[in-house]
Amino acid sequence: MKCKKCGAKASINMRQHKLALCKEHYLAWAPEQTERFIKKYRMFQRDERILVAVSGGKDSLSLWDILYCLGYQADGLYIGLGIDEGIGYSAESQRLCQKFAEARGLHLHIVDVAQEYGQPIPALAQISHRGRGRPCAVCGLTKRHIMNRVARDLGYDVLATGHNLDDEVAVLFGNTLHWATSYLVRQGPVLHEGPGFVRKVKPLCRFYEREMAAYAILRGIEYIYDECPFAEGATSIYYKELLNKLENDKPGAKLTFYLRFLDAREAGFFAPTADSMPELHPCPNCGQPTSNEGLCSFCRLIEKAQLHA
Ligand code: AMP
Ligand code: FES
Ligand code: ZN
Ligand code: ZN
Repeated sequence: MKCKKCGAKASINMRQHKLALCKEHYLAWAPEQTERFIKKYRMFQRDERILVAVSGGKDSLSLWDILYCLGYQADGLYIGLGIDEGIGYSAESQRLCQKFAEARGLHLHIVDVAQEYGQPIPALAQISHRGRGRPCAVCGLTKRHIMNRVARDLGYDVLATGHNLDDEVAVLFGNTLHWATSYLVRQGPVLHEGPGFVRKVKPLCRFYEREMAAYAILRGIEYIYDECPFAEGATSIYYKELLNKLENDKPGAKLTFYLRFLDAREAGFFAPTADSMPELHPCPNCGQPTSNEGLCSFCRLIEKAQLHA
């Protein structure tokens, strides 16, 4: 396989784009594409300050690297979840984020859940009723709360996450299976800001997972290979496997599914309902918007944890 641009040996073949590229041309192509998506979906402007949520994985570190190469003002945020399982998942992912930031002279904010809220994620999940089974729901709630809080408190215009096409399509597939229109109406590359909510963007939403793995490897970015140890057996992974089979037989199927969904959403196919637009008011404790009467779900979780402490 030869590079379409220069004829040298290709480092990656993207069947869905009918495009093979060498290392040099791929490392130029990925940021160009990212820039194109940032503009197309109006994610942010050059003068805006971006907070990139980095997990230590290939997607979020590649995203930070690409934004840095493109000349955007992007700082990082790492949330220490206190997951010691596996190879010491959290400690290792934090080390890799710090190493990445130091090598480029970039600023990384670190928020440690146990230090700030008294307990690490696995313990919070145990205490919460959500903790039956996996800690993932508590983990997701906590990450969303902290990301929004830090971005707002420190005056960032936008929060960027490393979600890739495979992530987005797995979520889309799940929401479609359940015809969860209140989620479908909100899924997309940009979630606009609202009172108390910072704008959220996913600049990698059109890149296949393997494209980002290739980017990280070709750029020499050291990242954590392991998935979160609690992810094993998750439904999202099952959907990803199903979708990989489909993609294998029909290259481009995932991208088409996602892009046609965005077209349908744009055309008003999923109209906002009272369900998808609940009335929000500020949580009396933390000030973040919530549809709950009284405390927001995160503050309830922390209150419960403190009662058990
Ligand atoms: P996940 O939910 O693990 O698939 O991660 C999706 C995105 O959330 C990642 O690409 C990151 O941008 C962000 N993220 C996940 N875990 C963390 C973390 N511990 N700290 C900061 N950001 C994170
Ligand atoms: Fe949060 Fe796995 S439970 S990353
Ligand atoms: Zn080339
Ligand atoms: Zn609250």
